[in-house]
Amino acid sequence: MQLGTHVIEAGAALAPMAGVTDLGFRTVCAAHGAVLTVTEMVSSRALHYGDRKSFSLLTKNEGAVCGAQIFGNDPEIMAEGAVLALRHAPFDFIDINMGCPMPKIAGNGDGCALMKNLPLAGEIVRAVSSAVDVPVTVKARMGWDKGSVNVVELAKCCEENGAQAITVHGRTRAMLYSGVADWDIIKKVRQAVSIPVIANGDVVSPEAALRCLLRSGADLVMVGRAAFGDPWLFGQIRAALSGQEIPERPPLRERMDVALRQFEIAMADKGEHIACLEARKHLAWYLRGVAYSNEYKDRISRVSTADDVRAVVRGIQRDLR
Ligand SMILES: Cc1cc2nc3c(=O)[nH]c(=O)nc-3n(C[C@H](O)[C@H](O)[C@H](O)COP(=O)(O)O)c2cc1C
Repeated sequence: MQLGTHVIEAGAALAPMAGVTDLGFRTVCAAHGAVLTVTEMVSSRALHYGDRKSFSLLTKNEGAVCGAQIFGNDPEIMAEGAVLALRHAPFDFIDINMGCPMPKIAGNGDGCALMKNLPLAGEIVRAVSSAVDVPVTVKARMGWDKGSVNVVELAKCCEENGAQAITVHGRTRAMLYSGVADWDIIKKVRQAVSIPVIANGDVVSPEAALRCLLRSGADLVMVGRAAFGDPWLFGQIRAALSGQEIPERPPLRERMDVALRQFEIAMADKGEHIACLEARKHLAWYLRGVAYSNEYKDRISRVSTADDVRAVVRGIQRDLR
């Protein structure tokens, strides 16, 4: 698919995920075949107030078309947030969050709450698109709840106001992350707009990626939770889409090398303390399904220095397979 001047190859995008898709994780996913990545969501209001922590989330990774995701509900502040994000790092696009269901966000009129106010959603897309010279995209859900599924109308409104692609997570806000994602609604969006549509929700394997594309007619799939500790999924999806044999995940030893590389990138970006706290969940994800790994998972839950992380990884490489 095409996004502005970027040609995005057949493959899968890595979904924006707060607390997960930091520079380290996005970098290794891109290195293993993710064709598009997005930062964690960043508050436009916090950028407006110069919040350092929010700016620190705005890192651009190499290896894939990379966007910054912002949230908020004030068109002017969103436009300013987009400009500030681009001034901070040369992102390839700006993504507007219209899908976050969390009370802290949606209860504030941000994220998925924008789906309840299409004129405001349109105004925000127009304001951001006019303020920046990179493509602006939107990520939304099916609707607020099952009585108000309106993503087709939202998508048309976003297109009319200048959005250059839309990602649809096939769940309502009320579903949060449970139930089964509806890929049929994504097809309705695909038929209603001429901008690229990215399908998201429950793409957990190369087979699911193929089924999702077939069912939804979408231009690209986006993978969220299934990528935790598994950047190889992106290469597998790419192979499946080009009709090649799906490569196996490499042996544990090699997988742990990648986990360590991810940690080192995160540490260089945000410092040892935070990188170690976050490595606790990432390393545990890399061990999902690994037999006899409980003792190591226990050690992982306590790592607090880079040396701890390196020692645990070496131990796993020595003792497990
Ligand atoms: C921990 C976590 C954090 C998330 N943070 C964001 C976010 O910052 N912005 C966003 O648009 N979606 C966010 N999402 C939603 C995902 O991008 C994605 O839409 C959702 O997980 C469905 O895809 P999946 O079924 O492949 O996981 C988050 C999801 C999870 C699990």
